Amino acid sequence: MQNRLPQIKTSLPGPEAMKVLALDHEFVSPSYTRDYPLVAKRGEGMMVEDVDGNVFLDFSAGIAVVSTGHCHPDVVRAIQRQAGELIHMSGTDFYYPLLAQLAQKLAQIAPGKSPKRVYFGNSGTEAMEAAMKLARFHTRRHRFIAFLHCFHGRTFGALSLTASRAVQRNGFGPLLPGVSHIPFPNLYRCPFGHHGGECSPENEVIEYLENLFKTIIPPEEVAAIIAEPVQGEGGYVIPPKNFFARLREIADRHGILLIFDEVQSGMGRTGKMWACDHFGVAPDILTTAKGIASGVPLGVTIARADIMNWPPGAHASTFGGNPIACAAALETIRLLEEKYLANSAQMGEYAMKRLADWPKKHPLVGDVRGLGLMMGIEFVKSQKSRDPNPEARKRIIDRAYQLGVLLLGCGESTVRLMPPLVVERDQVDFALDTLERCVVEIEK
Ligand SMILES: Cc1ncc(COP(=O)(O)O)c(C=O)c1O
Repeated sequence: MQNRLPQIKTSLPGPEAMKVLALDHEFVSPSYTRDYPLVAKRGEGMMVEDVDGNVFLDFSAGIAVVSTGHCHPDVVRAIQRQAGELIHMSGTDFYYPLLAQLAQKLAQIAPGKSPKRVYFGNSGTEAMEAAMKLARFHTRRHRFIAFLHCFHGRTFGALSLTASRAVQRNGFGPLLPGVSHIPFPNLYRCPFGHHGGECSPENEVIEYLENLFKTIIPPEEVAAIIAEPVQGEGGYVIPPKNFFARLREIADRHGILLIFDEVQSGMGRTGKMWACDHFGVAPDILTTAKGIASGVPLGVTIARADIMNWPPGAHASTFGGNPIACAAALETIRLLEEKYLANSAQMGEYAMKRLADWPKKHPLVGDVRGLGLMMGIEFVKSQKSRDPNPEARKRIIDRAYQLGVLLLGCGESTVRLMPPLVVERDQVDFALDTLERCVVEIEK
């Protein structure tokens, strides 16, 4: 693909896209939520070409997955080499070198000094499921504490933690007993209703939790506290700097495990390998998926070796850690360490500098926030009321698509920017110029 910037040649969706949409609407599960009718055919680096030859600049990365860009040649080579040698064997019943090598690499780069072990699944939700089972098994306790607005996946265990949107739970209950949700310390939308200046939600969240422990949740029954270090689907919300140290202290005091879900925020997305590195706190169990293998399905659960003490047969997966996924992951990590982790930090800083004065310039923009290339712009009806503005968000995302930039939303009215970590400065400029043009058009 020649293009480094968008080129739109047909009306959208184009004629070939229309045919796929008709087929999809007839046969594919209607549970998916597509914001706009992009029908992808090819991807290369930052660019995606649709079935009509239109080329888009991708600031969604397949929901934060293609960390090294679309079809990075080194990742493609690693996949092709592995596909010619061994596609599947099942790490559940046999050994192969890549599984052990990837486990060693992940154990080395995982946060915290203690030795680690790694469990392999196929997705973020499976990584969370394994983390929950391991926490119960290790502690012999049954309760979990999670945060409102968090997203941890959609299988029954993970869904019991997820508290992002009611539609994700509606009709599926009863879910796992023993899961309690507490507010997340959101600085822009203080869960305790204080706005502007006097808000320090981390203190109130900690107090709230301590109070639960004194009243309705015996801490001796709690296996784990689960958090996304940066809330993803919930709105790209970054908690106060000292929050996780406080949570770590409470967890330790009560023998409760701390699980960080870095399915979305891990693998360099925030400019460091792990989002929790920004807070200087290591969890007992860490999950990651999305960006780990540049688009090949893989989810991992990394735990302190003394915690991952379950016996043979306790948990496993036929496909988890499939050789092709392991090859793609090892190559992805190599590329991240070589250059893209640094690029994520640099480009994120550059973009955040450009975004910093948007709330001053644009009445529709309530807040901008970000770490590395995990950035959110929250749209409001008025800056004074801070009422969420999902209609403006929708119009902005639709218009950006028409102009060739692929964006996604999160939270109630936030646009998230999560390009592949290979993004270059002129592409950041193009995406932000386009986004700003959409905001100005809608403000008129
Ligand atoms: C933080 C987090 N955890 C878990 C999941 C679930 O991952 P998957 O969709 O791969 O099952 C997601 C997916 O968006 C996520 O963002």
